[in-house]
Amino acid sequence: MPVVAVIGCQWGDEGKGKIVDLLSEQAQVVARCNGGTNAGHTIVNERGTFRLSLVPSGIFNPQAVSVIGNGVVVDPAVLLEEIDQLEAVGIDMSRLLVSDRAHVIMPYHKLFDGLEEDARAQTGIGDLGTTRRGVGPAYVDRTARTGVRMGELLYEESLLTKLSAIIPAKNAILTKVYGAKPLQLHETYLRLVEWGQHLRKHIMPTELVITRALSENRSILLEGAQAALLDLDFGTYPYVTSSNPTAAGLCIGSGMPPNRLSAVLGVYKAYQTRVGAGPFPTEITGQVADFLRDQGGAGHGEYGTVTGRPRRVGWFDAVAARYVAQLNGLTGVAITRLDALDNFSKITLCTAYKVHDAHLSHIPADLSELDTVEPQYEEHPGWQMDTSKARSWADLPENARLYIERISQLLQTPIAMISVGPHREQTIMVRNPFNSLPQQVGQLVQSLGS
Ligand code: GDP
Ligand code: IMO
Ligand code: MG
Repeated sequence: MPVVAVIGCQWGDEGKGKIVDLLSEQAQVVARCNGGTNAGHTIVNERGTFRLSLVPSGIFNPQAVSVIGNGVVVDPAVLLEEIDQLEAVGIDMSRLLVSDRAHVIMPYHKLFDGLEEDARAQTGIGDLGTTRRGVGPAYVDRTARTGVRMGELLYEESLLTKLSAIIPAKNAILTKVYGAKPLQLHETYLRLVEWGQHLRKHIMPTELVITRALSENRSILLEGAQAALLDLDFGTYPYVTSSNPTAAGLCIGSGMPPNRLSAVLGVYKAYQTRVGAGPFPTEITGQVADFLRDQGGAGHGEYGTVTGRPRRVGWFDAVAARYVAQLNGLTGVAITRLDALDNFSKITLCTAYKVHDAHLSHIPADLSELDTVEPQYEEHPGWQMDTSKARSWADLPENARLYIERISQLLQTPIAMISVGPHREQTIMVRNPFNSLPQQVGQLVQSLGS
């Protein structure tokens, strides 16, 4: 049975939540694999509008088990809030499983995220524009082997021993480096114990759930958070997140053997956005940018799901997009928010980066080089028609089809889905990732054209 990974392929907020919610109807296990409360996945379905940070977007399928994998960093307070919110609309949360290996975002991680950002802002480096949710510092402690894992919340005695070592060390940094207030050991301990008691029934070795699902031939959906250009290794470092949102990262973050992936679906907006600092070669500002930011329908403009910050906007960057498609072995592409381009008479697409007299075909490791690239653009005529009611490829205006075909050609990857609004039904399924095996590049592009 298929294992489909869904990953963001730009700088986040591509509409992964919507795509996963829709595809999860075909899955029996849906697993989040990376990131934490920095993610904000918007789901609009018959039960309402939900903005989830931690609970997998597949939770709305009553037949599926939802897993928060080992690669996720969990803020238990936020997780409990999300559980309450979903239970209030009648969702059975006993199907939510949390890895005992997932790391806890501790109260001091949130403090450090803010203090470190403020400190960076005072230097020549500038801040990174993190979500200040403690995600980066939690991953630092995971790598430094000083983290607390979800399973440890269940063993109160050893937890106290561990906190008795960690809290004084963290307090020394809080007070001596940042002049901040220290944390109380006992108060922190009691909070963690309470979280453990509330979450006990959800915590387990979820990698075994994946192993079992594979042996029983279940269909599995891996839900990426963040996106490939925010990847710690391949993104625009240091303006990245602290995990690997790439297809390989999803395998590590869930316990999925890499050779079991049958499809990797890359989600791209029909244009480009970024929230937070960092390079953005095709960024636009001014009136056109403001106009684009407010497209997409009421409540679905380009404003951060987690922080409410206005997102920076720009034209589709096919150089970055192709780089990501190759690194992740994409077998299909989902284009979202096509409807947000309905009111443009001209649509611009970046097809190449020029540096002096040469062309660059990837995101360079050296960001000063990226700063000097001159994006090369081609212009496409807009369609100036409402696409939000399109339900098939044939329903789309010709200019919209040509624009999408061009993207597919530049990415050398077939189109699988096109999203024309935030609702589930506002989706054109060109090639269902759960039904189709990888197909020769170009085949679909051809069949679309015929
Ligand atoms: P995610 O982080 O990738 O899950 O994306 P977010 O939920 O943070 O941001 C995507 C936004 O676009 C949300 O407000 C979605 O409801 C909305 N959205 C998703 N797909 C579409 C679409 O095709 N058209 C429009 N207008 N909005 C969409
Ligand atoms: P979803 O899953 C958009 C960005 C932050 C910041 C950088 C580092 O909703 O697509 P962090 O808090 O992770 O240390 O911040 O990464 N960022 C996101 N931007 N969507 C996200 O998640 C993001 N998660 C992190 O804005 O620039
Ligand atoms: Mg988001």
